[in-house]
Amino acid sequence: MAGWRTEKLQGFCYGGDYNPEQWPEEVWLEDMRLMKKAGVNLVSVGIFSWAVLQPGADNYDFAWLDRLMDLLAKHGIYADLATATASPPAWMAVNHPDTLPVDKRGSRYRHGSRQHYCPNSHVYRDYAARLVRRLAERYKDHPGLAMWHVNNEYGCHISECYCSSCEHAFRVWLEKRYGTIDELNARWGTNFWSQKYYRWDEIGLPAHTPTFANPGQQLDYRRFMSDSLLDCYLNEANILREVTPGVPVMTNFMGSFKPLDYFKWAQHIDVVNWDSYPEPTSGTGQEYAALNHDLLRSMKGGQPFLLMEQVTSQVNWRQHNPLKRPGVMRLWSLQTVARGGDGVLFFQWRQSRAGAEKFHGAMVSHMGDEHSRVYREVEQLGGDLQRIEEIADARITAKVAIVFDYDNWWALELDSKPSADVRYMKSIETYHRALYRANIAVDFVTPEQDLSAYALVIAPTLYMVKPGVQDNLERYVSTGGSLVLTYFSGMVDENDRIHLGEYPAPFRKLLGLCVEEFDPMLPEQRNRIKTADGGSYECSLWADIIRLDGAEAIAHFESDFYAGGAAVTRHSFGQGKAYYVGTQPNDVYVAKLLGTLCEEAGIVPPIAAPAGVEVSVREHADGRAYVFVLNHNAEPVRVELPPGEYANVLDGSAKQGEIELPVAGVAILKRNAE
Ligand code: GAL
Repeated sequence: MAGWRTEKLQGFCYGGDYNPEQWPEEVWLEDMRLMKKAGVNLVSVGIFSWAVLQPGADNYDFAWLDRLMDLLAKHGIYADLATATASPPAWMAVNHPDTLPVDKRGSRYRHGSRQHYCPNSHVYRDYAARLVRRLAERYKDHPGLAMWHVNNEYGCHISECYCSSCEHAFRVWLEKRYGTIDELNARWGTNFWSQKYYRWDEIGLPAHTPTFANPGQQLDYRRFMSDSLLDCYLNEANILREVTPGVPVMTNFMGSFKPLDYFKWAQHIDVVNWDSYPEPTSGTGQEYAALNHDLLRSMKGGQPFLLMEQVTSQVNWRQHNPLKRPGVMRLWSLQTVARGGDGVLFFQWRQSRAGAEKFHGAMVSHMGDEHSRVYREVEQLGGDLQRIEEIADARITAKVAIVFDYDNWWALELDSKPSADVRYMKSIETYHRALYRANIAVDFVTPEQDLSAYALVIAPTLYMVKPGVQDNLERYVSTGGSLVLTYFSGMVDENDRIHLGEYPAPFRKLLGLCVEEFDPMLPEQRNRIKTADGGSYECSLWADIIRLDGAEAIAHFESDFYAGGAAVTRHSFGQGKAYYVGTQPNDVYVAKLLGTLCEEAGIVPPIAAPAGVEVSVREHADGRAYVFVLNHNAEPVRVELPPGEYANVLDGSAKQGEIELPVAGVAILKRNAE
């Protein structure tokens, strides 16, 4: 399918996970009333219903789901119908214990929570396929069916399995990838520590080893597990596409989530979406969410995404679970819309009476009616989304991109590295945060992608350089782009083998420098970097000892034996410029550097807003544009608007000159025609 809009899925989607099997049927009617009142139009049904839908291996019971689907349709609420395969019934564990996954030390998990299936179990996949085909055939023409929700959060609890089925499947996967055992030995560098293989069946999983397992093997195991879970998804999705070709198919993602290569997965889902659970009182939840909104939106070329799950009030799975403060749920929901989301859904509709999530917040609390603070906020947000419906499908245009690559993440964070503190997401966050705080729109891209739409590209810690990437980045810069690379980049190939020569071998020419040595810092260690204008900024984590070879230094280290050496460099390459940041500078410096580069490229925020005020623009192809202004501060703020007259589409009020936003306040401004 191209896109996910169908006749049934118009405007904004609003709703949540709905688990009616936990409630007597009289409650369902009350649910319908409360859903309508709140403006709910889409609910995810049956995510954990397998045991109820299939009481035994050859015995199905769809009667209750028939009644529920009819009830939803009667009330004009659509089902994002789940395939129910995320938690296999007890009989499966009893009859087929080898469907249960195995941990690194060889111990088998048991039935009794959820996600207890081995991704390579054919028995599990066959049962799943049979159930999915029945669901698809049964509901294919049902007026309530709007979307398919395959499984749930693949890999959330079990993203690795070390059973014999996985071991066998790993060998098959490797043989397909490398063809010959000699090729595999070369890629994994198995002459090291006597690891050479002579037959495919000698190869095992990187399970419980005395010390560091072979890095090439570990890296391929990660790829294999992401692919194995993707095959589980496709096992179901292919059936759904065959039986109901017009119905969008998705599974819910979890933000950046390390175990699964979502850029690869996104090619197989129709609706990009994710489940967002920032810690609500840390003060940085909106930054975490913004990064993931930007990342997920980018995975399908800017197509509007759905926030598939969030909580209204508080979760139950942290050590301490504070409430979202009044207004914050609405603020963060509208932030989703601001950054390209066309739907806001929650886990879950009605708070459970029993089970491990009974203290997890919901749209309807244990009180069970419309009188809770939370329900009132839910109802208000439902109204907001209806009022701003004209924004649905509007897009975000970014001139800045951050390179993101799962293979790089996996390889960078394998063990046996110069510093265990080099973490990919920290590095990505550092650069995203600076752009977020400056209200500069940003996309994420893969290193192989065409970059010509961007004036500035930042590739933090691009440790792995796969075939084609060096050329792609050189082409981008030589044709006028600005590129920022950072420390510990250009080190290895796609199998985690060093790119030989002076570091960073694939980027030496582009950067006009050589990294003679690197000096990872101890956790408490700091240095400083100095800029030509006299500025001095703290740096930590890493210091590259750089020899310039055409580049110029724009910041120097202040102390240690490499004091005076280049820390940040600039190199003209063709029509563009390549920058290198050979350390982890503090946020002030990163903001200054990116601020300068944006300014040089003519990239400015839509509105000059005070700190803590997020601004983002969505625009339709016909030019109608909406400026979102969100106050994340603990105090009210005043924001000056550029000249012109505006309408706040949230309430229709006219605005010009200056607006005042209360704590958690939001304005969505549409500029009136002159
Ligand atoms: C998600 C999951 C939901 C629910 C929720 C609680 O990870 O998909 O089923 O458990 O967390 O926060």
